[in-house]
Amino acid sequence: MNEVKLRFHLIGRFKLSKNGAEAKDDVAGVIDDANKNILKKGAPEGGGAEVVSWNVDDTIMVEIKSDRYVRAHDALLRLRKALTRILGKRRIGIRGIEVEKFIITIPTEKPLRKLKIPFVKDMQYKNGNILLELDVAEPQIESRVPDRIITLIVDKIESQKYGKKEHWELLWESKEKTLRFTGDPTQELIKRRWIKHGSCRGQWIFGPQITKVLRTFEQIVEEEILRPLGYHEMVFPKVVAWDVWKRSGHAKAIYPEMYYVCPPKTRDETYWEDIMDYYKVTLEVPLDMIKERIDKPIGGLCYAQCPPAWGFLEGETLPDDILPIRVFDKSGTSHRYESGGIRGIERMDEFHRIELLWIGTPEQITEHSKKLQERYKHIFENILDLQWRMAWVTPWFMAQEGLGGLAEKKEVGTIDYEAFMPYSKKWMEFQNLSNNGDKYPNGFNVKLQSGEELWSGCSGIGLERWAAAFFAQKGLDAGDWPSGLRRRVKTLPEVFRFL
Ligand code: SER
Ligand code: ZN
Repeated sequence: MNEVKLRFHLIGRFKLSKNGAEAKDDVAGVIDDANKNILKKGAPEGGGAEVVSWNVDDTIMVEIKSDRYVRAHDALLRLRKALTRILGKRRIGIRGIEVEKFIITIPTEKPLRKLKIPFVKDMQYKNGNILLELDVAEPQIESRVPDRIITLIVDKIESQKYGKKEHWELLWESKEKTLRFTGDPTQELIKRRWIKHGSCRGQWIFGPQITKVLRTFEQIVEEEILRPLGYHEMVFPKVVAWDVWKRSGHAKAIYPEMYYVCPPKTRDETYWEDIMDYYKVTLEVPLDMIKERIDKPIGGLCYAQCPPAWGFLEGETLPDDILPIRVFDKSGTSHRYESGGIRGIERMDEFHRIELLWIGTPEQITEHSKKLQERYKHIFENILDLQWRMAWVTPWFMAQEGLGGLAEKKEVGTIDYEAFMPYSKKWMEFQNLSNNGDKYPNGFNVKLQSGEELWSGCSGIGLERWAAAFFAQKGLDAGDWPSGLRRRVKTLPEVFRFL
């Protein structure tokens, strides 16, 4: 982002409490001085902002050209400060700023699609540049809207260049394992009636046998990770309000993938009576009528599991001696609108996961991540005997939030755990482990008593994904399973028969 050669051209006006003609020489002095000093402050030699023309009557008009070091809108605020001081001596007040014209030039090899961005009046592509014409007033300049527009555009240019692909780098790969099955695990599960499709998209009803296996996975996690590593259970909320997603960063991108939650406009029975009656008479649920009676979404169903836990710590200062905090949640489902990507029990709209969350100093976070990696390796190697691998990936939010450097050093970022799926010859991600750096403590304003940096990490253990990986490699016959799992599962309950 820093290398992008931005150029700014702004024409603005300072509104005055009375005609400023008498102060013309003072204004000239301020502008001369500003062009040498305050508009160059922080910029390398030859860089910064410059007032290229100006005029005083009922207003002070300034035309500013600048580079990225002192952005023109910042220059405008710097000038206001300097002008306020000098005009004050003549009892002339600055009553506000108007922006007449504001064009930002951003170089890019390829144009972007026409976009609808707030406060952007026009967007043109000319000679290798995007020209953004902003329609901003004082409040937007004060609240740094232009900077966020630039970040947005630069991110779009970057993602157009590199595509949506995340960075992927192999960290470790297991030996080839004995594969006892070559079919599609979901098809086999359906055939044996271990699962049946639920009434919603991407949703399954899990029968007694597979439930026993999922619970056994939980037991393994309990025995091999939660107890030895000192985790405590919490219950995280499963409906998540916008405010949480604003703080976690999900509000930037979650929209096509989330399940929205809308409350009724009122609990008043009479407000709903005609809908009840409509149903009773027609036996059809009148969706269009319902749509009118529900409120705007308050947020959505649990998506990433850990974000709503941070409300517990929000705004707090923690004593150092309670670190590293290790908590987990397995209290409910996660939901994602997976659309075309939907695939059996490998990719569902509704899924179950144990989420581990650890919080501590940067050293503690990194050290704990290593311990977890060892425990996971033990489970996948010695208990489930999977053919699996670990890859270093940089999730979008880290690239976006400038943690790229730490990600390169493999400190902050995510490890994806992938299992080989013999039936498709593809690798499937079955869990992840992230060092989230200071993202969450920052977003939720959590501090440490000593003032030292606070970091966190999280790991989502996808139970259906474990099952998909395991069944895909070992099949559904318990006799073929490694003894570590067989011993723990004991017997698979046979409850249903169908005629
Ligand atoms: N919160 C992380 C995620 O959603 C781990 O579960 O990927
Ligand atoms: Zn998480």
